[in-house]
Amino acid sequence: MSGAGTKLQTATSVGPKPKLRAVLVEDNALDAELVLRELRKESFDVSALIVQDEAGFAEALRSHCPEVVLADYNLPNWTGMEVLNMLRRQNLDIPVILVTGALGDVNAVECIRQGATDYVLKDGLARLPEVIRRALREKYERGLRHQAEEDLAKKVDELARSNADLEQFAYVASHDLQEPLRMVAAYTQLLAERYRGKLDENADKFIGYASEGALRMQVLIQDLLAFSRVGRANATCSTVDCNVVMEEVRKSLASAIQESKAAINFASLPTVWADRTQMAQVFQNLIGNAIKFRGKGSPEIFMHAEKADPNWLFSVRDNGIGIAPEFAENIFVVFQRLHARTEYPGNGIGLAICKKIIERGGGKIWVEPQAGSGSTFKFTIPLGIPDEKAGKA
Ligand SMILES: Nc1ncnc2c1ncn2[C@@H]1O[C@H](COP(=O)(O)OP(=O)(O)O)[C@@H](O)[C@H]1O
Ligand SMILES: [Mg+2]
Repeated sequence: MSGAGTKLQTATSVGPKPKLRAVLVEDNALDAELVLRELRKESFDVSALIVQDEAGFAEALRSHCPEVVLADYNLPNWTGMEVLNMLRRQNLDIPVILVTGALGDVNAVECIRQGATDYVLKDGLARLPEVIRRALREKYERGLRHQAEEDLAKKVDELARSNADLEQFAYVASHDLQEPLRMVAAYTQLLAERYRGKLDENADKFIGYASEGALRMQVLIQDLLAFSRVGRANATCSTVDCNVVMEEVRKSLASAIQESKAAINFASLPTVWADRTQMAQVFQNLIGNAIKFRGKGSPEIFMHAEKADPNWLFSVRDNGIGIAPEFAENIFVVFQRLHARTEYPGNGIGLAICKKIIERGGGKIWVEPQAGSGSTFKFTIPLGIPDEKAGKA
């Protein structure tokens, strides 16, 4: 017998039993009857097709859309294992429960490994309803999980798109604002030069405010542009010796170092896989901050790196004014600062740029409060290159 299989009673009862569409892969009519009786006894309102071979099973899958497959392990022309293969080929997530006379332990393990949900021996059919209920529950939960994963992936996608839009917006806005702003700055300056002392005192003051404001806005816009460029530029990674980068940073901060008598200590920094210019930007911002936000004494700065698989973990420790823990996250946001510009100069873009660079490289950056005074900034960079190239650990 093959083909569409034998349809056994589509239930008529309207009782509280849940409906269940099942396909039985079984060559023994009596066994099939026993199985169905067990299921109908108290558990399910079963509508079942009984098939014996591949063609019959394929047809039953199409016509009956089973919620569960109950398969004998050994049939004359077919095996339960083939049932699993066919479902896998068709990408169907239908629980398969092997119902069989005897199934050696090794076979049982292999069947479960191949995707069977469970197995029930024919002389222990009483277990079957519970095994089916559990299989259906697990499938339902799998569905929920799958849905949640899909939803999450969609959200991540949307977020990436809206981030890209925002980045584009920040770039275009800051780029296109530069030109009109240049006009405002140039003409207020011209006004100041040409009419100083020729109007009244208030006019001089107002023109002064206007040109100061325009200059300040220019700096802010340039900072914003620098920030959005980090997201647009394609980072070109290469092996970067951090010791060399630190020497360069030391040179470009030479006057601040000299003036503050800062001591900058670092040794045996690793060679990392990164964009060289961006690494220099990160180091310079962090060291520059450590000098700028110094305490009463001269700045003492320690830079250190260690391997913390799968990353390099860098730390920059200073003995400066420190950061209250409640501001530890804020300071990485664009234009967020904790002091007036009259106290410490700056626009609050440095750490935002550091964060963007580090995160785009797959790392993290944060600040840790430190016993006594000062703060420790930490950041990670994925190892990214084989150990032998990664230099000193
Ligand atoms: N080493 C540090 N010690 C104390 N405060 C710091 C340090 N680095 C950064 N900060 C705080 O974080 C804020 C943001 O830093 P940053 O983005 O570099 O901007 P800026 O240097 O222009 O103020 C600073 O204004 C300061 O309040
Ligand atoms: Mg700074």
